[in-house]
Amino acid sequence: MMSITRQLIILVLCVLVVSVSTDAAECTSELSVEAGCDQCTDWGHCEQETVPVDPWLQYALKTQRELQIDATFDQFIMLDSHNSFQARAYGLRYGANDTCVWPPPYPENCTSIANHEFTIIDQLNLGIRGIEIDNWYCYGAMRVCHLGVHEYLGVCESDHMLFSDLISDIGQWLDQPENQDEIIRLYFNEKTDQGHDDEVNDIIQGAFGTRVLTPANLRDTYGGSWPTIRKMREDGKHVLIAAGGTDGFFTHGDVYIHPLYFDVDVRTNLYLPYPDCSGRNDTNIVRVYSDSLNFPLVEKGYYSGEDTVGSIKDLSEYVKCRIQYPAMDMINTNLVKTGVWTWAERQPNGELTYDSCVMLKGTDHRWYVSSNCSENHYYACQHDSDDEVWTVSDEAGPYSTEDNVCPQGYSFSIPHDGYRKQKLIESSLDEDVWLNFSPWLPSGPVEPTDEVMTTESAANRLISIPWVVLAVLCGVLLL
Ligand SMILES: *[C@@H]1O[C@H](CO)[C@@H](O)[C@H](O)[C@H]1NC(C)=O
Ligand SMILES: *[C@@H]1O[C@H](CO)[C@@H](O)[C@H](O)[C@H]1NC(C)=O
Ligand SMILES: *[C@@H]1O[C@H](CO)[C@@H](O)[C@H](O)[C@H]1NC(C)=O
Ligand SMILES: *[C@@H]1O[C@H](CO)[C@@H](O)[C@H](O)[C@H]1NC(C)=O
Repeated sequence: MMSITRQLIILVLCVLVVSVSTDAAECTSELSVEAGCDQCTDWGHCEQETVPVDPWLQYALKTQRELQIDATFDQFIMLDSHNSFQARAYGLRYGANDTCVWPPPYPENCTSIANHEFTIIDQLNLGIRGIEIDNWYCYGAMRVCHLGVHEYLGVCESDHMLFSDLISDIGQWLDQPENQDEIIRLYFNEKTDQGHDDEVNDIIQGAFGTRVLTPANLRDTYGGSWPTIRKMREDGKHVLIAAGGTDGFFTHGDVYIHPLYFDVDVRTNLYLPYPDCSGRNDTNIVRVYSDSLNFPLVEKGYYSGEDTVGSIKDLSEYVKCRIQYPAMDMINTNLVKTGVWTWAERQPNGELTYDSCVMLKGTDHRWYVSSNCSENHYYACQHDSDDEVWTVSDEAGPYSTEDNVCPQGYSFSIPHDGYRKQKLIESSLDEDVWLNFSPWLPSGPVEPTDEVMTTESAANRLISIPWVVLAVLCGVLLL
């Protein structure tokens, strides 16, 4: 038997340890709480690689990328993240103590020097493929720092994270077996020629090696035209890096980095929705960017990203226009979900086989696996010489990839992007329509699942391992 005093001391210590351990894990920042991470930083933001990903969302976005396998790289639509690195999860320099709560409009005078809540790795896990980085050279190394020299956002300092660490994290993400088919684009917003070319190129070489599609590859291997996604995969090219700033293109000797190649770069609040699409046509390249910053300017009140640039709170208008790079701030599951234009929630609701038949439902214009392929529906028909011209068959019939079900000059097909889907629904008059998903059968890129993510609060999650283990340990000690 131990003495009462000793038991009391242990009890007090246990209570302290348990409360400290739960404090350390507490996620307090709204987007992190909503995400349901089980590990947060001291400032209450999800630690790198802890943001749960909804398997349905992952599958739907993967489907949307796979559908574009025969698109050339310049026409490949990827979800993009504006100022990807400026994320609260990276610490105080990157907005860990921000007070604005997404989404805007924000209350007066809150501070947001961050464009994001979650790390770049979590953004990639959530389906983002366009990453944007401000790299600045200071204190003897290339670092990652917003704008580099700014009266409020700060100047590049010795405690800004190393560019090499961030690039190497991204390289490791691509090394994961489940990510090996993925293709990403990095955009370095370098605003002046900072030199240190060898250092920068060595970092890229170390992280990505031959996976970078270099300017020399583009010129010599592909004759100056962008290859298709299929071709890039065959050739093991998974990374495209482009750089540009206000005063020119700073590409560190053209070894790995292309000059910036966007034709149109437009602020969210100047974006003209479908059918104008801010000038997006079937050949050009359009980026639309948002800005969620909000901070005091010296003697000028507050800078408001919402008023100056606007923020993307819903992707559907960009999807409809097949904007390649909708550059979002505050990437989170609910925002990314608005970019799904294919599967309905919880679809496909079983394993896809060679016998599966997929249809676009007239009621919500989303995809469903039909339980009966003999039902009669119209067929989605794509023009043989103009990919963006769509119609439906004259007659309805059972699902079939054999018969010639479409009018002359058209073939049974599936829309490969949101714009083509828009053209299809404009001609289908809200009927159910068969889609030719057959080239992507049987099982698709990821096993389908009907598991849905629940947004458990962080508090619920705390009643998990560390708490229980400590409680048991204390119990044992007290005996
Ligand atoms: C938050 O960070 C800024 C610097 O980024 C600092 O000036 C400010 O004092 C910090 N606020 C708190 C409450 O720590
Ligand atoms: C597409 O838009 C670009 C401007 O972004 C323009 O230069 C080009 O001529 C347009 N192409 C077609 C086919 O209209
Ligand atoms: C916001 O800041 C401005 C000065 O930048 C000040 O005049 C105003 O009173 C502040 N508003 C609130 C609600 O604190
Ligand atoms: C499938 O649909 C066809 C055509 O509407 C119908 O004749 C058949 O009975 C249906 N089969 C089942 C199992 O519901």
